[in-house]
Order: sequence, then C-alpha cells, then structure tokens
Amino acid sequence: MATKKASPAASNDEVSEAEIAVHWQEEGYYQPSPKFIAQANLTDTDMHKRFSLDNFPECFKEYADLLTWYKYWEKTLDTSNAPFWRWFVGGKINASYNCVDRHLEKHRNKTAIHFISELENEPIQHITYQELYVRVNEVAALLRNFCGLKAGDRVTLHMPMVAELPITMLACARIGVIHSQVFSGFSGKACADRIVDSASDVLITMDGYYRGGAMQDQKEKADIACEDAAAQGHKVKKVLIWQRYPGKNSSPRPMVKGRDFIMNEVLKDYRLTRIDPVEMPAEAPLFLMYTSGTTGKPKGCQHSTGGYLAYAAATSKYFQDIHPEDVYWCMADIGWITGHSYIVYGPLALGASTVVYEGVPTYPDAGRPWRIAEELGVNIFHTSPTAIRALRRTGPDEPQKYNYHFKHMTTVGEPIEPEVWRWYHEVVGKREAAIVDTWWQTETGGFLCSTVPALHPMKPGSAGPALPGIHPVIYDEDGNEIPRGAGKAGNICIRNPWPGIFQTIWGDPDRFVRQYYERYNKKKGSTDWRDWPYFAGDGAVQSEDGYYRILGRIDDVINVAGHRLGTKEIESAALTVTEVAEAAVVPVADEIKGRVPDLYVALKPGVQASRELQERISQAVVTEISPIARPRKVWIVPDMPKTRSGKIMRRVLAAISSNQDAGDVSTLANPEIVDELRKMAKM
Ligand code: WTA
Repeated sequence: MATKKASPAASNDEVSEAEIAVHWQEEGYYQPSPKFIAQANLTDTDMHKRFSLDNFPECFKEYADLLTWYKYWEKTLDTSNAPFWRWFVGGKINASYNCVDRHLEKHRNKTAIHFISELENEPIQHITYQELYVRVNEVAALLRNFCGLKAGDRVTLHMPMVAELPITMLACARIGVIHSQVFSGFSGKACADRIVDSASDVLITMDGYYRGGAMQDQKEKADIACEDAAAQGHKVKKVLIWQRYPGKNSSPRPMVKGRDFIMNEVLKDYRLTRIDPVEMPAEAPLFLMYTSGTTGKPKGCQHSTGGYLAYAAATSKYFQDIHPEDVYWCMADIGWITGHSYIVYGPLALGASTVVYEGVPTYPDAGRPWRIAEELGVNIFHTSPTAIRALRRTGPDEPQKYNYHFKHMTTVGEPIEPEVWRWYHEVVGKREAAIVDTWWQTETGGFLCSTVPALHPMKPGSAGPALPGIHPVIYDEDGNEIPRGAGKAGNICIRNPWPGIFQTIWGDPDRFVRQYYERYNKKKGSTDWRDWPYFAGDGAVQSEDGYYRILGRIDDVINVAGHRLGTKEIESAALTVTEVAEAAVVPVADEIKGRVPDLYVALKPGVQASRELQERISQAVVTEISPIARPRKVWIVPDMPKTRSGKIMRRVLAAISSNQDAGDVSTLANPEIVDELRKMAKM
C-alpha cells in the first residue's frame, strides 16, 4: 500500500502515480487448467534455479541459443564500461534472418502475418513466410539502393497498424539500419522531434489508415514533420509513402517533388531482388523506441540486436507460451514497445502466426475482437487493461456469442483492477485461459515480472514473481531493502543486467546513467554489475508469496490508457499558447483509461480567461503531441499552489482534481488558493 510516508515520490512536493495508486486487497489464487499445463512450453520447475545469480550471466546462453547465429559470441556479458552492458560480445547475427529466412525450410507456406483491416467487409490478408521473405527483401533493396541507406543509419517510421510496418522494420533490420517507429497517433510535430533527435534522413509513412471507421490523413503529418524538422535545422531527404490501397491516394495532400515517393511504386523496380542479410555484431543497435521521461524531451531507448532478440524470443516462448501451430494476437500497437517485442520480433523469431489489426477494438462494436478470434482461430490473446475495461463496458456479454477458445491471455501496461481481471478470466477467457499480468517497460525490452503460466497460480492485480534471471529489489528512499511481506511500498529496481535491457539513450549517455543507474549506485566507476541496480521508476510492493504488485510511476509520467506521457511534455505543449504563463499537469483516475491528465494553467497578466482559450490550449496539446494526451479539463486558475521557493505543488492540484484531501497545505506560500481552486473544481 502506498502510504504517504512509504511513497517513493522523488520529492515531497511532487505527486506521483504511486501516491494515488490503486489500493485493492490481496486476492486469492486461480490455478491454470490441467489442459493448459499439459501442453505448456515451460513446465520445468528448475528454471528459476538455473537462472539464479550464481549462474549469472551464463544462464542467458539458453535464451540466445533459441536464435540462429552466424558466429557464436566470445563473452556473454561485458561489464567493463558499466552500466553500458554489452551482451553476447563477438557474436554475429541478423534479426531479419531470424524472423524470416530461417523459417522457410519448415514453414514456407505458413501464415506469418494475418492483416485485418478495420473495415470488416475487406478480406483478411494472410502473408506467408515465403511472401514475407520476398517483400522484406524487396524493401531492403529499395532502402539500400534507392535511399542509399547502410548499417547504422537511422530511419524514422510513422506507420499505422498494417502489414507493411513489420515488413519495413524487418527490411531495415536486414541491412542493419536502425528503425525508429513513432506511434502513428502521434502528431507531425512529435514525429519531427524524433526525426531530429535520431537524425533520420528518411521518413517512411503511409498515406492514410482507418480508425473508428474514418480514414485518417497520415501524409499530412509527414508534411508537418518535415516542415518542423527543417525549422529545427534538419532536412528530411526522402519521404517514402506506402499507399493504404496500392494505386490509389488515400490522402488529398500533394506530393512534394524530389522528396516524396510512393513506396509501392518504387518497389516495382526491385521486384524479386534478394538482399543478403548483413551479419551484424550482437551489440549493434536494432531500433530506437522513444518514450517519455521526467523532462520534456522524449528519449530514444536504444535496443541491441542479439540481446534484445534473444530476450524477446525466449519470453515469447515461455511466457506467451507460443508454439509454432498457435495463432497469436497481441492487440497492442507496434508503435509501442509491446508491439515491437510481442507482435513482431518475439513471435516471428519463433515462427508463429501473428495478427496485425488496424483499428480500434470496439469498431464497429464490442464483438469485433471475438469475431476476429473466431475467424482466425486465435488461441493466444494479449491486450491492455484499458482495452479490457472498454470491451467490458460496451459489450460485457459479447465474448460468449462467439466460438473461440483462448488457451492463454496477457494483460500489460497498467495495473488491472481485480474485478476487471475477473471479467477477463471468466468471460473473455471462458475460465479456460491461463492469464499472465506482465510488468515491464520500453527500456527493458521484455517482461520482468509475470507468473509462469503453467507453474504459478494467478493472482488478480499482481504481476507475479520475477522472471528467471531477473532479480528485483525494492529500496526505500534511503537505499534500505524493503523485505517481502513488509506491506510497504518502495522503488523497484533490478539487481542485475539481462539481455533485453536497453543499451543507452540515443545521443545522451549521461542522462542514461543519471536516470536509471545513479539513484542506488553503490560505487562510482565500478565495473561490477552488482554495484549498478537498474532503477525502474515504478513504485511496488512485494507480498509474502513473492508476488510483486506494481503501483505505478514515481516520476512525472502519466500512464494514459497504457500510453506513457510525460507531464512535462504536456506542460510544454500548453506553454506554446502565448497567453499561458504557467502550466501544471496532474493525473486523475478514469474508469476506462486508468489515468487521464488534468491541465492547470495560469495566464499572463491582463489576459482574460475564456472558453475559446481553454479550447485553444487543449488543441495545442493535441497538435504538439497527440489526441491521446488531450486533457480531461483545462482549468484556468488565478494562481498555482506554490511552495515558498516557488515550486508548483502538483500534489495539491492532483488532490483537487480527484476530490481528495490535499493534506497539510500550511507550508504553501499561498494556502488560500486551495479553497478557491476547490470551489472552482466543484462548479
Ligand atoms: C506500467 C509498457 C502495472 C509501469 C510495456 C511501467 C505496468 C510503464 C504493467 C511502462 C503491469 C507496465 N502492471 N503497471 N503489468 N506493465 N506498467 O514503457 O508504470 O510503455 O513503468 O512499457 O507501464 O510503460 P511502457
């Protein structure tokens, strides 16, 4: 339980997600079915023992051995430049080869990707491994020969959920080009920041895609992104635009001569061209994934090729229980890390059939996911609490109308309320599916905590114990270990490195060390991994049985519908409106999305508050970031509650927004403002 005292908030002035975290009771256990256990990939009760710290780091060889290597590594883990870990040093590997070519012998005619349009009357595309091979090669040839890209170059992708997205990613990986996929729902401006930071010369996008039944104009965002990047001093040389319907423009935006190219047209020149996969060092970066942090600037988490792929493949096999004959559907977006690890790289490395669904889960109605499951024979299903809450509210009885059977289900990205978990188990899973609640992060490459689906009982609301080879520790503010069962929350850290951990923040190694390793570092300059616990930025409690319950972010990050948004990013967006003097964002509980942002703004002297201004501020957030960041409310306030040193007390604002007691406000410089704001919030 996150009491105020035990709360791991970075500073007493700031509110943290953990402070207003979910407070539910410890729940009883649910057992996986004998039928599930009988077929599971991981039933070896010795696995955790084999991955004990005594066997570290060599235990991870077992994961790397799931992959095909051109050259075996010489050193499993190099810590000489701690905490910049290097895994499988000396090894040579290609991710595209591992996800495509190596399956041809046995699975050439098997579906690799099922692509489902949001429009239900459009036929499903079933892309076999052979077809994937042909298309990945052609795109790789285009990237190399038409764009002049080579290993180590960065390319920004701003693509929707279409089969062309994994194809493009795998084409990049084939020639060692580092892809940086930006969530398609992000604005052109947000995309520009990521283009500039990664110094991408090429942007790959699609003209449009369906969402909620309407064609979205994605090309427009590319134009804005290029314009904004240019204003920041970075010129995008080429924009490659896939057509959602080849031969037809789905965006009215004109093409910019010399810059814009229709991908599927140019590809005709590369018909049946084959490109040998480039033998990449295991530690070569595979991709960047930008995520929000404590400052306004998103950070590019850099993931390696060998370590990341080994971790994604092994966790997919053992925790997603993927067998070659399974039909696996992860309903996340590839624009987030979940999609990278558990739609693309993990399942395809295992030769599974993975589902890519374009649209929203509830379109055209809340029965849609279950119709898809029935039609494709999906037997492994993976989604977020936000999606489960939405489906439960809009179609609580829909699952039973369809004849599908999940053997396994996942929940990821946010804490799940036990009553929502139970609906997932009883109604969606028809009491047959084993459920894993997986805790992890963009930075970690793959799961950190989860039950082993065939070995551990499930406990609603708890992520479960740590994965094999992951050794968490919960520290209090002073660096003391909080023992299991103490009933106290603290900062969850991981004692040891693992292959999936990101390598650095692109272009900002100092921030990487500062943010993730400095907090509990035991000895500066040490080359011993034991001195460098990984600081995850989440509050957590460990119960007597060893299960971890994740309470939420302890930094300035708000988890909105499972999307990680920085409060600072939203605040900077509000400050682009010239009338705004100060902005503060706080999370508020929301029935469907878990959390939503409330935005408080103070105006410059002489400026009048108005509805129009509120709307303009809200719109600025959408333009700068995305509709997912749109504030629930924009409160224009006469003043912010502040400490004597002038710091905005977000904790007080959060209490007002959530209609809770603001606690002791006597130390504020302006305590009288609290009542004034409360009155305003009640209106
Ligand atoms: C939160 C998503 C509770 C957590 C994979 C973490 C969770 C952040 C869970 C990372 C879970 C993720 N239970 N909270 N099972 N999984 N989180 O980087 O706060 O988008 O730090 O990665 O989501 O979000 P990210």
